Amino acid sequence: MKRKKIFTLGTAACLFLGSFSGCSGGIQGKEPKSIKIGVTVYDQYDTFVSQLMEEFGAYAGRKEDETGVAINVEIYNAADSQTTQNSQVEEMLDDGCNVICVNLVDRTEPTTIIDLAEKNQVPVIFFNRELVEEDLERWEQLYYVGAKAFESGIMQGEIAADMFQAHPEADKNGDGIFQYTVLEGEAGHQDAIVRTEYSVSTLVENGVEVEKLGYAIANWNRAQAQTKMTQMLSEYGEEIELVLANNDDMALGAIDALKASGLEQDRWPVIVGIDGTDVGLAAVASGEMAGTVYNDKKGQAEAMLNLAYQLSVGGDLTELGLEEGKYIRLPYAKVRAEEVEDYIENSRPST
Ligand code: GAL
Repeated sequence: MKRKKIFTLGTAACLFLGSFSGCSGGIQGKEPKSIKIGVTVYDQYDTFVSQLMEEFGAYAGRKEDETGVAINVEIYNAADSQTTQNSQVEEMLDDGCNVICVNLVDRTEPTTIIDLAEKNQVPVIFFNRELVEEDLERWEQLYYVGAKAFESGIMQGEIAADMFQAHPEADKNGDGIFQYTVLEGEAGHQDAIVRTEYSVSTLVENGVEVEKLGYAIANWNRAQAQTKMTQMLSEYGEEIELVLANNDDMALGAIDALKASGLEQDRWPVIVGIDGTDVGLAAVASGEMAGTVYNDKKGQAEAMLNLAYQLSVGGDLTELGLEEGKYIRLPYAKVRAEEVEDYIENSRPST
């Protein structure tokens, strides 16, 4: 669906545009009555991104109560098309948004958006899909909010290493080597590249000998991961002792394939995900997944909104924890059976 606005959050209309130069920010010392934040996501059906947006909406409501400033949030779905996303940014600029938040479809193609934003003097917060540093340097009003990708790989590797060392049955053929397969996110996505690299190197650094049986790209997607895992199962069967999935949805796709194969759960490989989405946490709680790594959707949503708010009202950015004046990266955390209940309790957006 092209240029589709998927939902609008907030209450007031954008009443204050006339008081600003363009719509790039507020007046120092004078709070506007309302602000308008435009958001475009690469794919509204991506589980993690949609939960991040839920948090964003919930926090916008709380921030509105706290500040008394009406916060209008418009969220668009780019449906995996960079061209659509570029048009959406144009539409949001025409609409008078104070700040635009962009979850790039193609992280190597931010040029049109940067040029449009600079021309209109409207700041851009890129999030979740990190563009290269040179692009972020192209204008001073460009920011990035995300997480420390390498950390998620390290934590995933540590969870897997602990499983191998503490549970001899994880080494199904008893050869002292952890035979693994990888389910990767999108080709070229920084999280996919970095997670795979660091989770495997962490296993090795923790003294686990590993052997890669196979890997497949499944684009963060559960159904694609099920198909790829089914193929790997027919090729390697019970030789697979570990599945490293770049995210929870793909780990769940692997579980779907294992269930469909009829293999008893006690003969499944160890499965580790990343994200801590609601469904991912449920799979850790049920023991189907050995663990996941929490991708702090709440922290990222709040950081994005606080930054967008300050940029809109012309406020102070010093308390926001910006690195190099441009980056906010939230830490990850390990979620195993022993931690999962805390995360399940805290994972509902508070409204
Ligand atoms: C990752 C997340 C994935 C997917 C991807 C989209 O950070 O772990 O599940 O949402 O972002 O860019």
